[in-house]
Amino acid sequence: MKKKVILVFGTRPEAIKMAPLVKVFEKEKSFFETIVCVTGQHKEMLTQVLDIFKIRPKYNLEIMKKNQTLFDINNEVLIGMKNIYEAENPDLVLVHGDTSTTYAAALAAFYMNIDVGHVEAGLRTYNVYEPFPEEFNRQAVSIFAKFNFSPTKRTQENLLREGKNPKSIFITGNTVIDALQTTKDALKHSQHDEWIGNSRLILLTCHRRENLGKPMENIFRAVKRLLKEVNDIKIIYPLHKNPIIHELVEDHFSNETRIKIIPPLDVLEFHHLMKKSYIVMTDSGGIQEEAPSLGKPVIVLRNTTERPEGVEAGTLKLAGTDENNVFNVALELLSNQTTYFKMSRAINPYGDGNASKKIVNIIKNELFSKA
Ligand code: UD1
Ligand code: UDP
Repeated sequence: MKKKVILVFGTRPEAIKMAPLVKVFEKEKSFFETIVCVTGQHKEMLTQVLDIFKIRPKYNLEIMKKNQTLFDINNEVLIGMKNIYEAENPDLVLVHGDTSTTYAAALAAFYMNIDVGHVEAGLRTYNVYEPFPEEFNRQAVSIFAKFNFSPTKRTQENLLREGKNPKSIFITGNTVIDALQTTKDALKHSQHDEWIGNSRLILLTCHRRENLGKPMENIFRAVKRLLKEVNDIKIIYPLHKNPIIHELVEDHFSNETRIKIIPPLDVLEFHHLMKKSYIVMTDSGGIQEEAPSLGKPVIVLRNTTERPEGVEAGTLKLAGTDENNVFNVALELLSNQTTYFKMSRAINPYGDGNASKKIVNIIKNELFSKA
């Protein structure tokens, strides 16, 4: 008999990384009934991804509201998912990573004794405040996940060190590479190419909860100083939809002509611009994973990272959120070719683009041969 698998996600990065997995599951019709449920923690930024990958969820909890709090998200996902699990009675629930959707959807499954598979398991900073609340979310899911799909050896080792059952952990690579293979060469041009011209492009993103306020202001001041100091750079900053970030950005960049503040890009255009960029400055998690395989140096606008693989590969440099530090790290990279070329070699610590296939095969094996 077929097994029923529900894949739950709610934000842009989860959707990008779950999309290749949905596609592989959907091909395995004789083994699985595949149900996609989105919580709608994100709205426009989620729809962009669903459209690109042509994913049609059976359920959308549509929970997003302006300035939503962690209480709102957790509450609504927990109750919303309870109702869906009751209606569907799945054999397995798959969640991804570390968002509030991830945590609450997994917790609802746990409360109902439904098995949980955790995609992108074992990433750690071991500081529950950085990133906040993501470090808590992913650690919490690891307490009860039946299957842990770790992207790398290092993430597997984190789980082993924590005493998780070795038989529950599988190294699969990261599905972000599967997604990247289908997106990175999809566009030949973007509407921003002409504006960039011969300038060196810095692609900037900044959205983390713990960076809202002072840290983000420090980062923005550093960026303004860079624009003054280095005259052949231009910056594109696709802005997260969070209104708190919009207010901060308006205060800082309204008079700058060499920075383009634009709405969130769809993933095809974002990856096109990432390939065109000279460097990337970001506090994002997913971008830290994509950059090594594109050979793009990344200045990480955070004090700590759960992606040390990229630091070891030489692609990522942690700059924190201190204005002088961010400015100095970026200036060094923009003015010293040796430093730049050391960081711009394409290396891929996250697998060969077959993570989704591996995950589906493991699940097939676990659910059928051991039934
Ligand atoms: C969430 C995740 C974070 C992830 C990020 C990816 C949690 C706690 N955080 O943070 O781990 O890195 O997504 O981007 O789960 N908004 C819109 N439209 C959208 C999306 C967001 O208007 O399509 C606005 C809403 O007003 C919302 C705010 O952005 O209140 C923040 O969104 P939220 O999901 O709460 O947090 P993120 O910072 O996006
Ligand atoms: N991304 C995108 N459009 C943008 C900015 C980012 O498609 O304007 C993609 C990016 O390539 C990566 C993912 O979104 O795959 C990262 O999402 P985000 O930074 O919101 O979340 P995080 O990874 O930090 O959780």
